[in-house]
Amino acid sequence: MPTIEQNLQIWDRKYEWPQGGEEWSSAWGGVEAQWYGTIFPRIHSFVPVSTILEIAPGYGRWTQMLKQLCEHLVVVDLSESCITACKQHFASDTHITYHVNDGKSLAMIPDRSVDFVFTFDSLVHVEGDVIEAYLTQLARKFTPDGVGFIHHSNVGAYVDDSTGMLPSYIKNEHWRAESMTARHFKKLCSAVDLQCISQELINWGTDVVLNDCFSVFTPLGSAWARTNRVFVNKRFMDEANYLFRMMQMYTA
Ligand SMILES: C[S@@+](CC[C@H](N)C(=O)[O-])C[C@H]1O[C@@H](n2cnc3c(N)ncnc32)[C@H](O)[C@@H]1O
Repeated sequence: MPTIEQNLQIWDRKYEWPQGGEEWSSAWGGVEAQWYGTIFPRIHSFVPVSTILEIAPGYGRWTQMLKQLCEHLVVVDLSESCITACKQHFASDTHITYHVNDGKSLAMIPDRSVDFVFTFDSLVHVEGDVIEAYLTQLARKFTPDGVGFIHHSNVGAYVDDSTGMLPSYIKNEHWRAESMTARHFKKLCSAVDLQCISQELINWGTDVVLNDCFSVFTPLGSAWARTNRVFVNKRFMDEANYLFRMMQMYTA
């Protein structure tokens, strides 16, 4: 059960960031392959915009892409050392604003100022209380047609109700939050007048478990509002494998 304190310990102190997070893109054949092949096709309809908020940027693996898609990029991370690394890396980009938070607060963001919120490969490690805190505040931070793309855990869908634990044949190999599911995310949105418009359940780094979910959400009544569409994508890693093969062909 990942806690905010454990996340802080790992990402701020223990993890050595050998390639600034780019090491996690190797299964795709690199950061560009993962961005252009996997992430950008899923978010391109919602950008460019005036203001993007990135939650949990780490050393800026996606910040370097997001900064090209807005006039103002705000990044918020729990780890001071991650924010320091981002400040150094993006020193010449005067349209980026940086904040260290307590793992839950968005109090530093003005209300009705965020057109697009993005977080990838980070909030998979946070439990429902953190997701709830962020969604509750995002409902106020969004502009009327704001949109969010949040990569979160779905491993809680496999928790056995009678024991409150994962059955032994389900391995939580990637330190996913066991209290989070796609369904719970949708419910948390509804509670604060947000609505999910797409949820893609995916098998991240595994053949058997739909351990993660990409949820796209927006304020009720926004230009993007529609009935939620759910895609159970058991072949997500095929996408990574395919991109990896392509990169061997078309990069140096
Ligand atoms: C695995 S790293 C990924 C960083 C970046 N998204 C990437 O893909 O390279 C996880 C990041 O999430 C941040 N983080 C974890 N929990 C957080 C929370 N509750 N609020 C804000 N940041 C958090 C960590 O400090 C770390 O920078």
